[in-house]
Amino acid sequence: MCGIFCFSSNEEINSNTGVNGLKKLEYRGYDSFGAFQINNNKENLTKEIGEVEKFSFPEEIKTKYFLSHTRWATHGKVTKENSHPHLSNDSNIIIVHNGIIENFQELKDSLVYKGYKFKSQTDTEVISNLIQEELTTQNNFLQATNKVCKKITGRYSFVAFNVKTKEMIGVRNGSPLIVGKKGNSIFISSDAPAFFDITNTVSYIDDGQIAYINQKLNQNCIFYKLNSLEEIYKKEIKLEIENQKIHKKNFKHYMLKEIMEQKHTIKRAIETNKEAITKLANLINKKKKVYFIGCGTSAFVGQSSKYIFHDIANLKTDFEISSEFKSIQNFIDKDTIVIGLSQSGETIDTIEALEIAKSKGATTACIVNNENSTMFRICDTAIPVKAGTEIAVASTKSTTSKMAILILTAYSCINKQKIGFNELIRNQALINDMLNPGFEEHIIKIAKKFFHHKHMFVIGKGYNFTVALEGALKIKELSYINTQAFQAGELKHGSIALIEKGTPVIAIAPNDCNQNDVLTSAHEIKSRGGVIIGLSENKSEVFDEFIKVPNCKEGNLMAYTIPLQIFSYHLANFNKFNPDKPRNLAKSVTVK
Ligand code: G6P
Repeated sequence: MCGIFCFSSNEEINSNTGVNGLKKLEYRGYDSFGAFQINNNKENLTKEIGEVEKFSFPEEIKTKYFLSHTRWATHGKVTKENSHPHLSNDSNIIIVHNGIIENFQELKDSLVYKGYKFKSQTDTEVISNLIQEELTTQNNFLQATNKVCKKITGRYSFVAFNVKTKEMIGVRNGSPLIVGKKGNSIFISSDAPAFFDITNTVSYIDDGQIAYINQKLNQNCIFYKLNSLEEIYKKEIKLEIENQKIHKKNFKHYMLKEIMEQKHTIKRAIETNKEAITKLANLINKKKKVYFIGCGTSAFVGQSSKYIFHDIANLKTDFEISSEFKSIQNFIDKDTIVIGLSQSGETIDTIEALEIAKSKGATTACIVNNENSTMFRICDTAIPVKAGTEIAVASTKSTTSKMAILILTAYSCINKQKIGFNELIRNQALINDMLNPGFEEHIIKIAKKFFHHKHMFVIGKGYNFTVALEGALKIKELSYINTQAFQAGELKHGSIALIEKGTPVIAIAPNDCNQNDVLTSAHEIKSRGGVIIGLSENKSEVFDEFIKVPNCKEGNLMAYTIPLQIFSYHLANFNKFNPDKPRNLAKSVTVK
């Protein structure tokens, strides 16, 4: 997984244009970065550990050819040697790569046998050397690269550059790659916003396709099918970029800005999607089996669907983690609808699961924030979350928007969309009131008391168990505190052994049919020394700390998720971790 940003131009472009493009792709990984360019006929390779955010080249540096990469390590440690670009042994072929070459070890062994030396532990380096090897028997860079693609297996995209001939090739085979055009300057990137400062004219490369650029022949970008090398026509699309310009405004971090945007994003999600939601509800009603799938935070939204559709529509739905979907594929057939939940629309585990569903004859749908994404294009029905671009790695506003869409879909399944809509608008107003400065201040005080703890627990029951799961994930990923979520009644069947004097336990206890059970569990924990941080509409005597949350009925799913986002954000701050970029993570996970 990683971000690729490259260009080939018939005129010199400031190298920092490339760096600025790469900065927009950091959400795809920020372990290390690197760039290759040719300045005054001299090749120049840069590799650095860490984030590209603060990096720039001296202003006078310009180039016609630029390949850059921001890395999320898969094969090989976070070192300069393992950072991209990777060069062939003769330094003629330059590669930046996203994805995984599954058979790299056997290919590497055969190259080593032929005398090739490897500088890195990456799977990527085999691509550059395989192309070099192909070019010993033929002169055609395009054909040589195509031949290499027949040898490598896995899901990937890469850009290859031939230093001698100045040809540039982008290959997509499972990971996203988009071409942007401005005059004779061609940009190839993992995602379109990386070149939005320059152009909004794009062509999407699909899986099994190649983009070929040869400035020497004054050619624009030519597209081919992989394997057959049949030339293909690609539509140029003008993307809407107005609302893509993103700023932190007065917030210290994107995460806090995105949390606060939940004052209005829930309303936007349902207001703009009434028809699409009706369509999805009709599909759900027609099908015998309904599966929701997702990863990470999106998985917990998926898990909550079980309760949402049960409580509101009396409908049975199933959930499966995308990466486990293959193991239940025998249940999928034409009477099934599989609904992918995703912020990015690029999570490979979810894409693969949707592809399996399609191959089994199921109808596919997705609820996705990024409307330019792969999922949006491959599903039979796609609902845009409309939360606006999310920058912070940990998902916040798109999460609650997806919940709102699911709640409205459940109401639509029983022909009560209007009632559901009004209820959600009421929820939005209550959440807007809740998100006042005093509310955040109160949570900051609680975070200050608990940020030094090594372990925490979160308990909930029914749909609030999924709130607990999401809250525990947020605390783990942002503050690295080992946090586990439990169904309130389940803790006593073993894990209560972990409770000792002072262990913080967050109890999700809205005023619903499960409240008494949650409070009983809280008492059992307190009797054993646990400290209870209660989230509820009313203070209970069992709470040591209390966070007041308004009663949003089914919308409690959203209302109770938000204070946990704020709490984990401030736990990270007190621990001096960057909440926007937690260690080891990436926002968009395009590898398995
Ligand atoms: C990554 C992110 C998580 C996110 C998950 C699923 O692991 O770090 O925050 O929830 O991917 O992403 P998606 O874009 O499919 O919602």
